[in-house]
Amino acid sequence: MSVESSLMPGRSSRLDGLLDWMQMLSGAGLILFMWAHMVLVASVVVSPEWMNAIAHFFESTGMAQVGGPLVFLLFLAHFVLAARKLPFHLEGQKTIWSHARMMRHGDTWMWIVQAVSAMIILIMGAIHMWVVLTDLPITAAKSAARIQEGFWFVFYLVLLPLVELHVGIGFYRIGVKWGFIKSNGRGIFKKRENLLTLAFIIIGFVTLLRFMFLDIPQ
Ligand code: HEM
Repeated sequence: MSVESSLMPGRSSRLDGLLDWMQMLSGAGLILFMWAHMVLVASVVVSPEWMNAIAHFFESTGMAQVGGPLVFLLFLAHFVLAARKLPFHLEGQKTIWSHARMMRHGDTWMWIVQAVSAMIILIMGAIHMWVVLTDLPITAAKSAARIQEGFWFVFYLVLLPLVELHVGIGFYRIGVKWGFIKSNGRGIFKKRENLLTLAFIIIGFVTLLRFMFLDIPQ
């Protein structure tokens, strides 16, 4: 065996480790983005003028025009990095499914929810970002008009819980991997994480209702 080939396993596992870190860092960045995004959009519940002022701030500083596409790239990069672990072939999917049923292991089920939601979020998230970012500036009236059309209301009713579940499970898994959740603290962390996920789903739902019933100036 040549020196080169005997070095290969070490190299590939180092590369794998690096890609794992990049996957986690891109995921952590998207979790922070999503928490901020939900709170910022929810400002419409307090007042549509607040939402307009926040959107204006992001656009006048160029953060929406530059940051928006960067979030889009981070979103795609995160998918490509995470896709290394997804079973795209039927055989692999069957194996994971039967293991999850056999083991009745909560974390394995959570992994399945994360993998399935990832596929749907990839498509719906990309459509959403395209529609919003190609129709700047963002205003409460434009968002409300979209949601009152009906299609986008249903679209967000599907995307919202999927994103929040994905973010919640992702946060838990990063905590376990980085070691800030110890094995005896997993139960309590999961409960708190579920509450946070539920809180964001409620905030998002109330925001959608606010858009639905907002008077749009003619
Ligand atoms: C820079 C990128 C993004 C911008 C500028 C943005 C902007 C917005 C805006 C203005 C709304 C209000 C509804 C509308 O106008 O149609 C909204 C809603 C929403 N966005 Fe985004 N978004 C971005 C990225 C994302 C991503 C990556 C996701 C998840 C994959 C996401 C998920 C949602 C959801 C679920 C709603 C419904 C909100 C709710 O229920 O309160 N967005 N977004």
